[in-house]
Amino acid sequence: MDLKLKDKVALVLAASKGLGMASAEALSAEGAKVVICSRNAEALAVTAAQIQSQTGNPVLAFAADVSDAAQVKALIQKTVDTFGGIDIMVNNGGGPPFDKFEAFDDTQWQHAFELTLFAFARTGRYVLPYMKSAGGGRIINIISASVKSVLNNAVLSTATRMAIVGMAKLMADELGPYHITVNNIAPGLILTERVKEVLPKDIDLDQALKDRAKTIPAGRIGKPEELGALVAYLASEQAAYISGTTIQIDGGAGRGIF
Ligand SMILES: NC(=O)c1ccc[n+]([C@@H]2O[C@H](COP(=O)([O-])OP(=O)(O)OC[C@H]3O[C@@H](n4cnc5c(N)ncnc54)[C@H](OP(=O)(O)O)[C@@H]3O)[C@@H](O)[C@H]2O)c1
Repeated sequence: MDLKLKDKVALVLAASKGLGMASAEALSAEGAKVVICSRNAEALAVTAAQIQSQTGNPVLAFAADVSDAAQVKALIQKTVDTFGGIDIMVNNGGGPPFDKFEAFDDTQWQHAFELTLFAFARTGRYVLPYMKSAGGGRIINIISASVKSVLNNAVLSTATRMAIVGMAKLMADELGPYHITVNNIAPGLILTERVKEVLPKDIDLDQALKDRAKTIPAGRIGKPEELGALVAYLASEQAAYISGTTIQIDGGAGRGIF
Protein backbone atom coordinates (compact mmCIF):
# COMPACT_ATOMS: atom_id res chain seq x y z
CA MET A 1 0.00 0.00 0.00
CA ASP A 2 1.33 3.43 -0.91
CA LEU A 3 0.88 5.53 2.23
CA LYS A 4 1.30 8.71 0.18
CA LEU A 5 3.95 10.11 2.48
CA LYS A 6 6.42 10.99 -0.28
CA ASP A 7 7.82 14.49 0.34
CA LYS A 8 5.62 15.09 3.39
CA VAL A 9 7.52 16.89 6.14
CA ALA A 10 7.64 14.94 9.40
CA LEU A 11 8.98 16.27 12.69
CA VAL A 12 9.81 13.46 15.11
CA LEU A 13 10.69 14.47 18.66
CA ALA A 14 13.06 12.59 20.97
CA ALA A 15 14.31 10.39 18.16
CA SER A 16 18.03 9.62 18.50
CA LYS A 17 17.06 6.10 19.57
CA GLY A 18 14.16 3.92 20.66
CA LEU A 19 10.57 4.53 19.59
CA GLY A 20 11.27 8.00 18.19
CA MET A 21 14.05 6.67 16.00
CA ALA A 22 11.85 3.78 14.79
CA SER A 23 9.10 6.29 13.91
CA ALA A 24 11.58 8.45 11.98
CA GLU A 25 12.91 5.41 10.13
CA ALA A 26 9.43 4.30 9.09
CA LEU A 27 8.40 7.76 7.88
CA SER A 28 11.67 8.23 6.00
CA ALA A 29 11.33 4.79 4.38
CA GLU A 30 7.93 5.93 3.07
CA GLY A 31 9.53 8.96 1.42
CA ALA A 32 8.93 11.69 4.01
CA LYS A 33 11.44 14.46 4.67
CA VAL A 34 12.20 13.94 8.34
CA VAL A 35 13.51 16.20 11.11
CA ILE A 36 14.61 14.54 14.35
CA CYS A 37 15.55 16.04 17.70
CA SER A 38 16.96 14.90 21.03
CA ARG A 39 19.35 16.48 23.56
CA ASN A 40 22.61 14.71 22.71
CA ALA A 41 23.64 16.32 19.40
CA GLU A 42 26.34 13.76 18.62
CA ALA A 43 24.10 10.69 18.97
CA LEU A 44 21.38 12.50 17.03
CA ALA A 45 23.69 13.26 14.09
CA VAL A 46 24.74 9.60 13.91
CA THR A 47 21.08 8.50 13.84
CA ALA A 48 20.14 11.04 11.15
CA ALA A 49 23.04 9.94 8.93
CA GLN A 50 22.15 6.28 9.45
CA ILE A 51 18.46 6.75 8.51
CA GLN A 52 19.33 8.92 5.51
CA SER A 53 21.78 6.35 4.18
CA GLN A 54 19.20 3.55 4.65
CA THR A 55 16.33 5.30 2.91
CA GLY A 56 17.98 7.83 0.57
CA ASN A 57 15.61 10.52 1.83
CA PRO A 58 16.68 13.69 3.66
CA VAL A 59 16.91 13.57 7.45
CA LEU A 60 17.78 16.72 9.38
CA ALA A 61 19.11 16.54 12.95
CA PHE A 62 18.50 19.47 15.31
CA ALA A 63 19.45 19.12 18.98
CA ALA A 64 16.68 20.30 21.30
CA ASP A 65 15.18 19.48 24.68
CA VAL A 66 11.45 18.94 24.12
CA SER A 67 10.64 20.52 27.49
CA ASP A 68 12.38 23.80 26.61
CA ALA A 69 10.03 26.21 24.83
CA ALA A 70 12.77 28.30 23.18
CA GLN A 71 14.59 25.22 21.85
CA VAL A 72 11.36 23.76 20.48
CA LYS A 73 10.51 27.05 18.77
CA ALA A 74 13.97 27.06 17.14
CA LEU A 75 13.49 23.43 16.07
CA ILE A 76 10.17 24.21 14.41
CA GLN A 77 11.58 27.29 12.71
CA LYS A 78 14.51 25.25 11.37
CA THR A 79 12.13 22.58 10.06
CA VAL A 80 10.02 25.15 8.24
CA ASP A 81 13.05 27.04 6.89
CA THR A 82 14.58 23.81 5.58
CA PHE A 83 11.56 21.93 4.22
CA GLY A 84 8.90 24.63 3.85
CA GLY A 85 6.28 23.42 6.34
CA ILE A 86 5.22 20.65 8.72
CA ASP A 87 2.70 17.94 7.76
CA ILE A 88 3.28 15.36 10.48
CA MET A 89 4.48 15.62 14.06
CA VAL A 90 5.35 12.68 16.27
CA ASN A 91 5.26 13.95 19.84
CA ASN A 92 7.63 11.94 22.02
CA GLY A 93 9.94 12.42 24.98
CA GLY A 94 11.89 10.61 27.65
CA GLY A 95 9.60 8.76 30.01
CA PRO A 96 9.19 9.63 33.70
CA PRO A 97 10.85 7.48 36.39
CA PHE A 98 9.11 4.45 37.91
CA ASP A 99 8.41 4.21 41.64
CA LYS A 100 5.66 4.11 44.22
CA PHE A 101 3.28 7.07 44.64
CA GLU A 102 4.84 8.15 47.95
CA ALA A 103 8.37 8.17 46.52
CA PHE A 104 7.81 11.24 44.34
CA ASP A 105 8.18 14.78 45.63
CA ASP A 106 6.92 18.06 44.14
CA THR A 107 10.01 18.51 41.97
CA GLN A 108 9.59 15.09 40.36
CA TRP A 109 5.87 15.69 39.77
CA GLN A 110 6.64 19.08 38.22
CA HIS A 111 9.31 17.56 35.97
CA ALA A 112 6.96 14.78 34.82
CA PHE A 113 4.27 17.38 34.11
CA GLU A 114 6.71 19.51 32.06
CA LEU A 115 8.15 16.62 30.04
CA THR A 116 5.27 14.21 29.63
CA LEU A 117 2.26 16.50 29.38
CA PHE A 118 3.04 20.19 28.97
CA ALA A 119 5.71 19.65 26.27
CA PHE A 120 3.16 17.67 24.21
CA ALA A 121 0.58 20.45 24.49
CA ARG A 122 3.10 23.15 23.62
CA THR A 123 4.53 21.42 20.53
CA GLY A 124 1.00 20.68 19.35
CA ARG A 125 0.15 24.37 19.61
CA TYR A 126 3.34 25.42 17.81
CA VAL A 127 2.90 23.15 14.78
CA LEU A 128 -0.80 23.81 14.18
CA PRO A 129 -0.45 27.04 12.17
CA TYR A 130 1.75 25.18 9.65
CA MET A 131 -0.64 22.25 9.38
CA LYS A 132 -3.63 24.57 8.98
CA SER A 133 -1.89 26.49 6.22
CA ALA A 134 -0.95 23.19 4.50
CA GLY A 135 -4.63 22.20 4.53
CA GLY A 136 -4.19 19.25 6.90
CA GLY A 137 -1.86 17.37 9.17
CA ARG A 138 -1.19 14.52 11.57
CA ILE A 139 -0.27 14.72 15.25
CA ILE A 140 0.74 11.40 16.77
CA ASN A 141 1.53 11.28 20.49
CA ILE A 142 3.59 8.41 21.84
CA ILE A 143 2.29 7.81 25.36
CA SER A 144 2.02 4.48 27.23
CA ALA A 145 -0.25 1.48 27.68
CA SER A 146 -0.32 2.56 31.34
CA VAL A 147 -3.33 4.71 30.32
CA LYS A 148 -5.26 1.54 29.47
CA SER A 149 -4.10 -0.94 32.07
CA VAL A 150 -2.50 -0.16 35.41
CA LEU A 151 1.23 -0.77 35.47
CA ASN A 152 3.01 -1.04 38.84
CA ASN A 153 5.10 1.99 39.79
CA ALA A 154 3.93 3.99 36.75
CA VAL A 155 2.01 6.69 38.60
CA LEU A 156 3.82 9.61 36.93
CA SER A 157 3.34 8.09 33.49
CA THR A 158 -0.33 7.22 34.05
CA ALA A 159 -1.34 10.50 35.69
CA THR A 160 0.26 12.77 33.08
CA ARG A 161 -0.60 10.63 30.06
CA MET A 162 -4.25 10.21 30.98
CA ALA A 163 -4.39 13.97 30.44
CA ILE A 164 -3.03 13.48 26.90
CA VAL A 165 -5.82 11.00 26.17
CA GLY A 166 -8.34 13.72 27.01
CA MET A 167 -6.34 16.44 25.26
CA ALA A 168 -6.18 14.42 22.01
CA LYS A 169 -9.97 13.89 22.03
CA LEU A 170 -10.57 17.61 22.37
CA MET A 171 -7.92 18.47 19.78
CA ALA A 172 -9.47 15.97 17.36
CA ASP A 173 -12.81 17.68 17.91
CA GLU A 174 -11.50 21.17 17.23
CA LEU A 175 -9.10 20.27 14.42
CA GLY A 176 -11.27 17.89 12.37
CA PRO A 177 -12.56 20.76 10.23
CA TYR A 178 -8.94 21.55 9.30
CA HIS A 179 -8.27 17.94 8.20
CA ILE A 180 -5.82 17.51 11.06
CA THR A 181 -6.01 14.21 12.97
CA VAL A 182 -4.69 13.73 16.50
CA ASN A 183 -4.06 10.24 17.84
CA ASN A 184 -2.16 8.56 20.66
CA ILE A 185 -0.09 5.40 20.47
CA ALA A 186 0.03 3.49 23.75
CA PRO A 187 2.96 1.06 23.69
CA GLY A 188 3.17 -1.90 26.03
CA LEU A 189 6.64 -3.39 26.24
CA ILE A 190 8.79 -2.56 23.20
CA LEU A 191 12.49 -3.39 23.29
CA THR A 192 14.44 -0.12 23.59
CA GLU A 193 17.27 1.15 25.81
CA ARG A 194 14.71 2.46 28.30
CA VAL A 195 13.17 -0.98 28.69
CA LYS A 196 16.57 -2.65 29.05
CA GLU A 197 17.34 -0.18 31.87
CA VAL A 198 14.23 -1.07 33.84
CA LEU A 199 14.58 -4.87 33.56
CA PRO A 200 15.98 -6.69 36.62
CA LYS A 201 19.79 -6.50 36.66
CA ASP A 202 20.36 -9.65 38.75
CA ILE A 203 19.61 -12.00 35.82
CA ASP A 204 20.88 -11.89 32.23
CA LEU A 205 19.02 -9.85 29.63
CA ASP A 206 17.69 -12.84 27.64
CA GLN A 207 16.23 -14.43 30.76
CA ALA A 208 14.75 -11.11 31.91
CA LEU A 209 13.10 -10.67 28.48
CA LYS A 210 11.72 -14.24 28.55
CA ASP A 211 10.32 -13.67 32.05
CA ARG A 212 8.59 -10.45 31.01
CA ALA A 213 7.18 -12.08 27.86
CA LYS A 214 5.31 -14.70 29.91
CA THR A 215 2.41 -12.31 30.56
CA ILE A 216 2.21 -11.12 26.93
CA PRO A 217 -0.19 -13.15 24.72
CA ALA A 218 2.11 -12.66 21.70
CA GLY A 219 4.79 -14.46 23.74
CA ARG A 220 7.44 -11.82 23.16
CA ILE A 221 8.41 -8.22 23.63
CA GLY A 222 7.58 -5.81 20.82
CA LYS A 223 10.01 -4.51 18.21
CA PRO A 224 10.46 -0.74 17.70
CA GLU A 225 9.83 -1.14 13.97
CA GLU A 226 6.35 -2.53 14.75
CA LEU A 227 5.53 0.77 16.44
CA GLY A 228 7.18 2.64 13.55
CA ALA A 229 4.82 0.93 11.11
CA LEU A 230 1.81 2.09 13.14
CA VAL A 231 3.16 5.65 13.16
CA ALA A 232 3.56 5.56 9.37
CA TYR A 233 0.00 4.31 8.95
CA LEU A 234 -1.50 6.94 11.26
CA ALA A 235 0.49 9.57 9.35
CA SER A 236 -0.85 8.36 6.00
CA GLU A 237 -3.60 9.73 3.81
CA GLN A 238 -5.48 6.45 4.31
CA ALA A 239 -5.76 7.15 8.08
CA ALA A 240 -7.67 10.40 7.54
CA TYR A 241 -10.78 9.01 9.28
CA ILE A 242 -8.96 7.96 12.48
CA SER A 243 -8.78 10.75 15.04
CA GLY A 244 -9.01 11.20 18.81
CA THR A 245 -8.09 7.57 19.44
CA THR A 246 -5.56 5.88 21.72
CA ILE A 247 -4.26 2.73 20.05
CA GLN A 248 -2.49 0.06 22.08
CA ILE A 249 0.48 -1.80 20.66
CA ASP A 250 1.23 -4.37 23.32
CA GLY A 251 1.03 -7.92 21.93
CA GLY A 252 -2.36 -8.26 23.62
CA ALA A 253 -0.97 -7.64 27.12
CA GLY A 254 -3.56 -5.05 28.21
CA ARG A 255 -6.34 -6.62 30.32
CA GLY A 256 -8.85 -3.79 29.96
CA ILE A 257 -11.77 -4.13 27.52
CA PHE A 258 -11.88 -0.44 26.51
N1 LIG B 1 9.73 1.26 25.08
C1 LIG B 1 8.60 0.95 25.69
O1 LIG B 1 8.29 -0.21 25.91
C2 LIG B 1 7.67 2.03 26.16
C3 LIG B 1 6.46 1.65 26.74
C4 LIG B 1 5.59 2.64 27.16
C5 LIG B 1 5.90 3.97 27.01
N2 LIG B 1 7.09 4.30 26.44
C6 LIG B 1 7.40 5.73 26.34
O2 LIG B 1 7.85 6.04 25.05
C7 LIG B 1 8.80 7.11 25.12
C8 LIG B 1 10.07 6.71 24.39
O3 LIG B 1 10.60 5.59 25.05
P1 LIG B 1 11.84 4.76 24.47
O4 LIG B 1 11.67 3.40 25.00
O5 LIG B 1 12.01 4.98 23.03
O6 LIG B 1 13.05 5.47 25.26
P2 LIG B 1 14.63 5.52 24.92
O7 LIG B 1 15.06 4.31 24.19
O8 LIG B 1 15.27 5.82 26.25
O9 LIG B 1 14.77 6.79 23.96
C9 LIG B 1 14.44 8.05 24.43
C10 LIG B 1 14.77 9.10 23.37
O10 LIG B 1 14.24 10.33 23.82
C11 LIG B 1 15.27 11.33 23.84
N3 LIG B 1 14.94 12.24 24.92
C12 LIG B 1 14.77 11.97 26.22
N4 LIG B 1 14.45 13.08 26.91
C13 LIG B 1 14.41 14.09 25.99
C14 LIG B 1 14.15 15.48 26.08
N5 LIG B 1 13.87 16.06 27.25
N6 LIG B 1 14.19 16.22 24.95
C15 LIG B 1 14.50 15.65 23.76
N7 LIG B 1 14.76 14.35 23.62
C16 LIG B 1 14.70 13.57 24.73
C17 LIG B 1 16.56 10.52 24.06
O11 LIG B 1 17.71 11.21 23.61
P3 LIG B 1 18.55 12.24 24.57
O12 LIG B 1 18.67 11.54 25.89
O13 LIG B 1 19.82 12.49 23.86
O14 LIG B 1 17.71 13.48 24.68
C18 LIG B 1 16.26 9.31 23.16
O15 LIG B 1 16.48 9.64 21.81
C19 LIG B 1 9.02 7.39 26.61
O16 LIG B 1 8.26 8.50 26.99
C20 LIG B 1 8.50 6.15 27.28
O17 LIG B 1 7.99 6.41 28.58
C21 LIG B 1 7.99 3.38 26.03
